[in-house]
Amino acid sequence: MTGEGSGGPRGVDCPGWALESGAFAAVATKECPLSPLVGVPEPVTVRVPAKINLHLSVGPLRPDGYHELVTVFQAVSLYDQVTATPARTLTLAVSGEGAGTLPTDSGNLAWRAAALLAQRAGVDAAVHLDLARGIPVAGGLAGGSADAAATLVACDALWGTGLGRAELLELAAELGADVAFGLVGGIALGTGRGERLTPVLAAGRWHWVLAAAHGGLSTPEVYRELDRLRAVTEAAPDPDSEAERVSGEPVAVGPVSGLINALRLQDPEQLGRLLANDLQPAALSLRPELRRTLRAAAELGALGAIVSGSGPTCALLARSDEHAVRLAAALAGAGICRTVKVVAGPVPGARVVDR
Ligand code: C5P
Repeated sequence: MTGEGSGGPRGVDCPGWALESGAFAAVATKECPLSPLVGVPEPVTVRVPAKINLHLSVGPLRPDGYHELVTVFQAVSLYDQVTATPARTLTLAVSGEGAGTLPTDSGNLAWRAAALLAQRAGVDAAVHLDLARGIPVAGGLAGGSADAAATLVACDALWGTGLGRAELLELAAELGADVAFGLVGGIALGTGRGERLTPVLAAGRWHWVLAAAHGGLSTPEVYRELDRLRAVTEAAPDPDSEAERVSGEPVAVGPVSGLINALRLQDPEQLGRLLANDLQPAALSLRPELRRTLRAAAELGALGAIVSGSGPTCALLARSDEHAVRLAAALAGAGICRTVKVVAGPVPGARVVDR
C-alpha cells in the first residue's frame, strides 16, 4: 500500500526497525473462525501502532501508585504485529525489537492480556502468541501496551468471545494505563491514569521523526524522578532549583486547550510550539544526553521536539513528509541517536490484518 499512514515507518538507518506494511483489514469479527477443512481456527494477525504524547501533564501521586494525567495521544505509523495461533497452552515468542530481552511468560503484558481475556470469556487460554516487534522496548512509545491491545483483539477474534468493544476497553484499562489507547488509536484526550479516552476530532496529517536512543527508560522510574524533582522544587521554590537546572524548563506544563485547538486548525507551527511533557525534565535528569537530540532538532529546523512519554525516544514535528525525511537524514547524520524513523499520524488502533 502506498497511502500515507498505511505503510510502516521509513527507516533511515535501521533495517531491523521496520515491519512489513500490510493493508488495514476489517475490524475483528466475533464469529468463531473455523477452518472449513479441519475445524481448527485459523491464526489471527493484528497490527498495532506506537503512540506519542503531544501533551502530558502529570498531577499528584494517587494512593494506587498512579498519577492523575491529562494527555493527548496520537497513534503513529510504527507498528508491532501479534499473531495468535491455537495451541495446547499459553505460550509466547518475540522477534524484532527487544527479542531476547523481553519476558516470554506472565511477565509480558501480552501474556497477561490473553490470560485475562480467557478468564473473562470463560475459555481456555490455549494460544501461542507471536510478537513481531517494530516498536522500541521501553522507549516511551507504549510498545508493551500496544502488544497487550493487539493480543486482546487477536484472541477475541480467535476465540469468538462475543465480548463487546466496551468490555475489551475495560479489560485494557485493567491491564495498564496505555492499553486502551492501543485499541482505539487516532488522536485522543486521556484522563485518569490515561485510560479514560475521548476522541479528538481533528482532520489532517502530522509528520514526525522518531529518534530512538540507546537503551530504554523504566516508566515507574521516570515518574519517581518527577516526584523527586517536584519535592526538591517545593522545598526550595526558586528559579535556580535543581529541577529547573537539570531540565532547563519548568516542571509543570500548562493547559491542553491550545494544543487541541492547533490540532483542529491543522496548524503545525502552533502545534510544534505547544508540545509539552511533564515527564521530560525527569527523563532528561536520568538521561542528560537526550538534550543533544532536542537541541539538534531545534537547530535542524524541527517545528517542535519533545521526549515521548517517559522517553527516551524523542519525537520531532515536521512541516510535511518531505521535511520529515530531510530532518531524519540530517539527524541520522549527526550521529547522536540509535535510530531515526519517519512516521505519520494519526493511524487507527489495533486491527486484524490477516486470518
Ligand atoms: O500502567 P502502566 O503499566 O503502563 O504504568 C507503568 C507505571 O508507570 C506505573 O506502575 C506507575 O508507576 C507509572 N504511571 C503513573 N501514572 C500513570 C501511568 C503510569 O505513575 N498515570
